[in-house]
Amino acid sequence: MIIDKINLVNFRCHATYILKCKKKTTLIVGENGCGKTSVLEAIYEAMRGKSFRAVDKDIVRRGEDFYRIELDYTDGEKVIVTYDGQMKKFLVGDKKWARLPKKYRYPVVLFLPSDLHLVGSSPSRKRDYFDRTFSELRENYSSSLSRYNKALKQRNELLKNEFVSREGLFPWNVMLAKYGCEIRKWRELEVEAINQQITEVYRTIADNRDEVKIKYETQDVVISESEYLLQLERNFEKDKLLGHTSFGVHRDNYDFIFNGELADGSASRGEVRSIILALKFIEADMIYKRSARRPIVLLDDVFSELDETRQKCLVQNFKDNQVVITSVDYNE
Ligand SMILES: Nc1ncnc2c1ncn2[C@@H]1O[C@H](COP(=O)(O)OP(=O)(O)OP(=O)(O)O)[C@@H](O)[C@H]1O
Ligand SMILES: [Mg+2]
Repeated sequence: MIIDKINLVNFRCHATYILKCKKKTTLIVGENGCGKTSVLEAIYEAMRGKSFRAVDKDIVRRGEDFYRIELDYTDGEKVIVTYDGQMKKFLVGDKKWARLPKKYRYPVVLFLPSDLHLVGSSPSRKRDYFDRTFSELRENYSSSLSRYNKALKQRNELLKNEFVSREGLFPWNVMLAKYGCEIRKWRELEVEAINQQITEVYRTIADNRDEVKIKYETQDVVISESEYLLQLERNFEKDKLLGHTSFGVHRDNYDFIFNGELADGSASRGEVRSIILALKFIEADMIYKRSARRPIVLLDDVFSELDETRQKCLVQNFKDNQVVITSVDYNE
């Protein structure tokens, strides 16, 4: 899919805003705070169904009571997103939905400045990052994850109640075991798929002999759903004391390994950036190979963080994708 134009009303600082996109590269230039990231946020929302950084009520322009996004593709398809402070609606053709149907969700590769700091960030930031990536790669990933998170929230709420019983937790344990095992299996598979390419792709950027790997770390070696369930049950007293669920995929972590050591601490700033670039290239490539669709690439202010070699590499790698770039600098 190719975006033709995007039209915003009351979206963050934009009262009204229209952007006509080029088939290849569209550059949005402007000073800090003028609303560049917000435009990418709107594109992402119309293509994926939700924002990458906020809930709807925070998006509505202050002092207004609704927002609207209209995204036109070059083939004539149009997606309209409206939110009136209560309800969100997606309109495609003459049909309305509360959520963007899968068939109208198109692949996007999003590259935020904060992604460049991923290697040294907290387990929860790394989990969020890979969750977003894997949701792009697998339709079922995000639905299992949201079911898991819902069950986790309910279980944690029950654990805060002093009268909670083992039996009361059972239905939630069953759900956590089912979705937790699915999520763990997919995380393992996707990390393995990334690892098959990452060193090779890294070397095309950095032009040397370093080895890169991502290590997926899950709490223990539990394999089956029934063992997972048993572990949750075994933890009853401990979890009750803690007031939350101590075991499960919500505690997983990812480590970046550079020449056999933790990249955080051993790799240089430039090397870390090359690792992230490699990760983005692999993500776009995996999406293309699996869906036969070239993702739209949204680059938010990342050029200023990269040296010339890496900037060129980025441009070259995404030469077949439609790319929307934001920047504060006219010279980039
Ligand atoms: N709901 C809202 N209503 C009005 N303004 C908002 C709302 N949410 C955010 N803003 C403001 O919108 C402005 C644009 O934010 P945005 O992040 O898109 O800017 P930007 O151009 O990407 O800035 P930077 O170059 O610093 O990254 C900011 O000044 C922010 O405070
Ligand atoms: Mg910004």
